[in-house]
Amino acid sequence: MPKILIVYYSHTGNTEKMAKAIARGARTVQGVEVELKRHGSAWGLDSYDSILIGAPTYHRNMTNSIKKFLEEVAFHNVGLKGKVGAAFGSYGWSGEAPRRVLEVMEKRFEMKVVKPPLLIEYTPDEKGLEECHKLGANVAEQISRTTDARA
Ligand SMILES: Cc1cc2nc3c(=O)[nH]c(=O)nc-3n(C[C@H](O)[C@H](O)[C@H](O)COP(=O)(O)O)c2cc1C
Repeated sequence: MPKILIVYYSHTGNTEKMAKAIARGARTVQGVEVELKRHGSAWGLDSYDSILIGAPTYHRNMTNSIKKFLEEVAFHNVGLKGKVGAAFGSYGWSGEAPRRVLEVMEKRFEMKVVKPPLLIEYTPDEKGLEECHKLGANVAEQISRTTDARA
């Protein structure tokens, strides 16, 4: 069964709301397993077909927990090449974090990334949550099609 991991950090809950809406969207696609985690670990990461990373912007950057996670994945040489990757996050005025995360996913991990990253200003409203839902459903459909084609 195709598997999606949504891993995120959120200090005041805004990126968490996005992550949960993405998970709800992904779960609308039958036959796809969706896991939502607040802390990422390199361990077992290669068993997922798609990884979505939620990173709020603090001080024009991603937070240390997300940095540490990406560095751990690189350090352990986890094979993510060709897997579907996406980045999202809440921001206030500049929103660098999801862009930087997506850059690492594309350039360093050679993932097939969804562009552009999904950014939402502060707390997601109904429209924002709908965008998150759509992103989850799109990624789930994408990996479910690829897995079908391989079977
Ligand atoms: C100390 C601090 C620094 C911040 N720095 C930035 C920043 O550099 N750029 C930006 O776009 N938003 C910045 N923000 C706004 C946060 O990205 C925004 O509050 C976001 O909703 C936090 O997401 P979270 O609830 O998932 O933690 C900052 C917020 C705080 C409290």
